[in-house]
Amino acid sequence: MPARAFVDCHSHVGPSGDDGARNVGEGVELCRDAVASGTRLLYATPHVWPDLRLHEARERRFREAVAEMATLLEGLELRIGFELTPDRSLLDDDPRRYRLEGTAVCLVETPFSGGLATFFAVAEHVENAGLTPLIAHPERSLSLVGTHGNVDALLERGWPLQLTASSLTGRSGADSEALAWRLLGSCDRVVVASDGHGHHRPARLDVAWNAVRERLGSEIAARAFDGSVLGVAPPPAADDALSASGS
Ligand SMILES: [Fe+2]
Repeated sequence: MPARAFVDCHSHVGPSGDDGARNVGEGVELCRDAVASGTRLLYATPHVWPDLRLHEARERRFREAVAEMATLLEGLELRIGFELTPDRSLLDDDPRRYRLEGTAVCLVETPFSGGLATFFAVAEHVENAGLTPLIAHPERSLSLVGTHGNVDALLERGWPLQLTASSLTGRSGADSEALAWRLLGSCDRVVVASDGHGHHRPARLDVAWNAVRERLGSEIAARAFDGSVLGVAPPPAADDALSASGS
């Protein structure tokens, strides 16, 4: 991977009526900040909440907004995905509509508190559809962190994990930070994403990248930030494209 060519598979830069960017202008600002930090492929993954489902009109407006944003951005490939909050109503849906574009992966978040039964049911539903659930920010779930957390019940499923960049630098507390580092150092299929929501939580990966490279080395850092765990790659830089074409 070039020094900085990050793949960020989880963000709320696309306006969708959730708690992320409120309009195209705000989304573009967040994306430009992401580019400045080294991100080259960014997924806009709005929440699919029990009380904010992906109904047709919402999906259409979101896709139109992201398409408009893409025309205003340089040096960034913007793709679409969704972040599923576990809810039994999702068991009636075809998970394929929620895939991260260009992959066979669905982003499923762990609940911040409470039991994990619905979470496991939704993740298994994704798996039964022939897809892979990517488990969003397990380090932030009270059911998984700390001495009472049951993270082993999750790890034995073998699903890839997505850690939130700011967890690695302590934003979510010491227990989350400790679990994030433990998972990153011990599991092969772990990616780091921004879960960027706005200026208070930007879609940047540079600080976490430096911390991971320093603490765990370049190999783990590359794997966690370059998209290889998901089977995607950032687009070539303009210079690379020119040399590949022989011009
Ligand atoms: Fe999120």
